Amino acid sequence: MKDLLGLAGQNAIVVGAGRGSGRAMALLFAQSGMNVAVVDQDRATASETVALVEAEGVRGLALAANAIAEPDLERAVAAAREALGPLRVGVNNVGNFGAHASAPVLEQGWDFWQTAIDQNLRTCFNVARTVSRRMIEDRVPGALVFIASLAGLRGSPNLAPYGAVKAGVIQFTQTLALELAPHRIRVNCVGPTAIDGPMLHERLSEASIQRRRESIPLGRIASPEDIAGAVLMLASDLAGFVTGQTVMADGGVSCTSQRPSMGAGEARMR
Ligand SMILES: NC(=O)c1ccc[n+]([C@@H]2O[C@H](COP(=O)([O-])OP(=O)(O)OC[C@H]3O[C@@H](n4cnc5c(N)ncnc54)[C@H](O)[C@@H]3O)[C@@H](O)[C@H]2O)c1
Repeated sequence: MKDLLGLAGQNAIVVGAGRGSGRAMALLFAQSGMNVAVVDQDRATASETVALVEAEGVRGLALAANAIAEPDLERAVAAAREALGPLRVGVNNVGNFGAHASAPVLEQGWDFWQTAIDQNLRTCFNVARTVSRRMIEDRVPGALVFIASLAGLRGSPNLAPYGAVKAGVIQFTQTLALELAPHRIRVNCVGPTAIDGPMLHERLSEASIQRRRESIPLGRIASPEDIAGAVLMLASDLAGFVTGQTVMADGGVSCTSQRPSMGAGEARMR
């Protein structure tokens, strides 16, 4: 059988893969025949993901690193390259609203913005630099995938920093794609809306989750595997001529002008 994805026997590194959609990405890469380096700030959950990866009959490597700190991530990427060989795919899944409760702009301090920048844009910057430098050294064609959000395309009351930095991830994807194209490294981005993983249930009430579910044309909230599937597609040879793009894995929400967007109160997190 032909390996249509072109990934079997090659190596991926997924940053922020200790749980949720990052774990689903690591597992899907493994099921596609890739060895996977699993990076997370939480070593225990990274090891749990690696156990699932290895159960697919490929190699896994658990690495603890803080993706906000470039030297820390650099060490993890070097260890992955050393243990597995040239990296073909790099994914940054780290990202969240920021370290503070949501609030209207008039009530926000700059520290809310700074943590959103660090956790979303800075982690993409660090993954881009550390992984693509290895790919260039190894002279292998590669693929980078970032995770943005519907919030990067549309207004989200009380989450201004998150929306602004996710818009930044989408734009960064375009510029980086142009800069890395001469090295045959493609750069793309997946834009989810709500994902039915741990973060959603930690941050939003069940009533708010239900309202989001009702707003999605496909009639359900994305599973972690839905997001992982879009990432796999962009990482694979099937997307070999696709770069600089953001694929919205959002059940169609971004297509409609009738999105019952979250009201200002509703968007307040618990
Ligand atoms: N969950 C949603 O509803 C949703 C919606 C739209 C977009 N997204 C985006 O999808 C991505 C993943 O979201 P998720 O819900 O799966 O997240 P999550 O919080 O469930 O998982 C993120 C993982 O990254 C790890 N991590 C966090 N900070 C880190 C750091 N500095 N260094 C290394 N590891 C770190 C965590 O330990 C965790 O294992 C994020 O970029 C998020 O912004 C999520």
